Amino acid sequence: MESSVNLLKTDTVALDEANDAVVIIDQTLLPGRVELISLRTAQEIWEAIYQLRVRGAPAIGVTAAFGIYLLANRLETEDFDAFMAEFAEQKQYLDSARPTAVNLSWALRRMERVALQAGREEGLTVGQVKERLRLEAHAIRDEDIKVCQKIGENGLTLLSPGDGILTHCNAGRLAAVRYGTATAPIYLGQERGYGFRVYADETRPLLQGARLTAFELYASGVDVTLICDNMSGSVMAGGLVQAVFVGCDRVAANGDTANKIGTSVVAAVAGYYGIPVYVCAPTSTIDMDTPRGEGIHIEQRPGGEITEMWYREPMAPPGVKVYNPAFDVTDHGLIEGIVTEYGIARAPYEESLKEIMARRGMRVD
Ligand code: MRU
Repeated sequence: MESSVNLLKTDTVALDEANDAVVIIDQTLLPGRVELISLRTAQEIWEAIYQLRVRGAPAIGVTAAFGIYLLANRLETEDFDAFMAEFAEQKQYLDSARPTAVNLSWALRRMERVALQAGREEGLTVGQVKERLRLEAHAIRDEDIKVCQKIGENGLTLLSPGDGILTHCNAGRLAAVRYGTATAPIYLGQERGYGFRVYADETRPLLQGARLTAFELYASGVDVTLICDNMSGSVMAGGLVQAVFVGCDRVAANGDTANKIGTSVVAAVAGYYGIPVYVCAPTSTIDMDTPRGEGIHIEQRPGGEITEMWYREPMAPPGVKVYNPAFDVTDHGLIEGIVTEYGIARAPYEESLKEIMARRGMRVD
């Protein structure tokens, strides 16, 4: 079916103020249909995040920021404390949609801080606090675009023309507002004639690599080859891959990194073949309050995603036990560098990540 929405010209997440809605590309319909949907209620926003209609750490953060603004803007009270009490309830509800990507709680906390600063510290009216929230939500979105561009610049310094790059899941434009994180160097290299060859893992069980990464790279004219998850060793052994670039959902203070399930396997295999693994992470994904990877809450999802979701009939014996963690943690020892908008952190990560976070006071552009 022909779609009237051009993926390459449409932001993954946008605020439609005239219609009081957050507008997203519904990623559950891709690649068959590129359709926008409008989210108006707290339940619709929660459901869209939980069902991965919008997914990818940065995109979830921007959706939450726009969402909490819309919900707060509708509150009718003029009393600041009553306003903040309802705000806190909505914030907690949206935050419960998915646990692993820190961008969700990061964006919601940032919005809450702005409201408290405006209402409590500066004594502004509830109407003025709402305007501050509107500006902050737009700032979070605008920063996401700039941050991804910077990650693209920094990541490209690690690559050479003609390189083969393997990526897992989707850390592409569909996981952010535009450009993506792990794909940002690929898009920039494409613009500059680097002629990269990209291998996209299909990414069981929800197929973000096949449905999203292969789709957006192919649509952009990048030389992309789709492989099953269990083929990464084969392409690496064959000398087809010079670097692995992946995104992440949370980076612990020691550099351990949670990303889509299977990333740690790719990293271990790449380590065996001496291929560098780079994790692309906006600083909003770095969680200095979590010392090590084992402290990261890993989302568990329904077993039906493995046994039946993509099949005409169930492909596992009824009642069989299923284990379906959505993410895994890659040990920092397997990571050659963490590419942020403020530069590339390298081991020892306790030091380099602290340094990167200290630079966060600087402007991104
Ligand atoms: O379950 P998903 O599709 O939200 O998982 C997404 C990933 O694992 C991405 O690699 C990660 O969020 C980084 S996106 C720039």
